[in-house]
Amino acid sequence: MSQREVVIGVTGGVAAYKTATLVSRLAQADIQVTTVMTDAAQQFVGAATFASLSGRPVATHLFDSSYPLGAHIEIARRADLFCVAPATADFLAKSANGLADDLLSTLYLAFTGPVLMAPAMNAEMWAQPAVQRNVHQLIEDDVQMIGPEEGWLSCRDQGAGRMSEPETILSTIIDKLNSL
Ligand SMILES: Cc1cc2nc3c(=O)[nH]c(=O)nc-3n(C[C@H](O)[C@H](O)[C@H](O)COP(=O)(O)O)c2cc1C
Repeated sequence: MSQREVVIGVTGGVAAYKTATLVSRLAQADIQVTTVMTDAAQQFVGAATFASLSGRPVATHLFDSSYPLGAHIEIARRADLFCVAPATADFLAKSANGLADDLLSTLYLAFTGPVLMAPAMNAEMWAQPAVQRNVHQLIEDDVQMIGPEEGWLSCRDQGAGRMSEPETILSTIIDKLNSL
């Protein structure tokens, strides 16, 4: 089997720190990773962490001269799988509604392979009808949700909305890649 290529999208939640472990585990499994970060994600973890763990520059902008065809097109074409972890309420809303106002949301629309999302947010946000509507829409659109789990939340609360652990996301990615 040729070497697998995945895109890891990182959006603006505290759980972004766990995605660094995910990218490291993917690299150790000999899977090529391109990390794409939203502006908000970069408030939580620096792009340099993902660049060094993946051994590749991190894509952050739609208009990037190193991708003459458009970063969303070039990254989408070479990937076997697209996983967004953490997926914010904002990203779920944008992707459920087809908005494309930054690199990650545009890439979601440009990508035709399997998409996984690992939502993470506080329990109140997760319980909102608007968020649940968007999740149901995405599942109907063939997106596979991973979690979220119940447990400790960074807002110092217990409840539903905790991002699944990197190992769980990794094994879901590997199972999906093996099924392609
Ligand atoms: C300290 C802090 C933690 C946040 N954690 C989350 C989170 O876990 N999940 C979430 O959906 N939004 C969270 N937000 C809000 C998002 O960062 C915000 O909605 C942002 O616009 C998301 O942008 P993005 O989807 O483009 O990354 C948090 C904001 C702050 C200031």
